[in-house]
Amino acid sequence: MKILIVYATGSGCARETASVMAEELSSMGHEPRLEDAKTAPDPAGFDVVVAGSGVRAGHWHKSLGAWIGRHREALAARPLAVFTVCLMMRNPGKHQAEVRAIGDAVLGKLDLKPVAVGLFPGWFLPERFGFFERLILKMMKTPSGDFRDLEAVRAWVRGLPL
Ligand SMILES: Cc1cc2nc3c(=O)[nH]c(=O)nc-3n(C[C@H](O)[C@H](O)[C@H](O)COP(=O)(O)O)c2cc1C
Repeated sequence: MKILIVYATGSGCARETASVMAEELSSMGHEPRLEDAKTAPDPAGFDVVVAGSGVRAGHWHKSLGAWIGRHREALAARPLAVFTVCLMMRNPGKHQAEVRAIGDAVLGKLDLKPVAVGLFPGWFLPERFGFFERLILKMMKTPSGDFRDLEAVRAWVRGLPL
């Protein structure tokens, strides 16, 4: 299957997570194409779409919502899986519903129903963020580190209803 993977990122975390998804889909015999939401093509030529973002102050990056909004009709006509990477998912027991609501807010407005939702922990690698973003995370006493669980990401991809 031709699978379009669209990510929105600031520090590269959502891109690198999406790239692990692409690797896994290739190993399953599919044809993934990885694209930044800022420049991603029309989904019309693809069988399936996977779209996801990192989080800033409780929201996806705007570029992903904008791309989804522009292509609403094409997305409604094919399977759409979405994912979110963020630091709240370091503690899924406490924050899972809140993180799920971030993507639901964007899709709900457009009446889109995803076939799968992936919620994954991200990273705080200070050198990957700009000065102000680093400052905000430090003021919030965020511990630095790469909290991604790439095996969970691969398992989610293997479980997609393709
Ligand atoms: C300014 C700022 C605000 C953030 N706000 C949230 C937030 O509200 N909830 C959350 O879980 N993570 C938040 N994060 C953490 C990021 O979502 C996390 O670092 C993610 O891995 C970043 O991926 P990206 O750079 O690809 O978007 C924030 C990070 C920054 C720098």
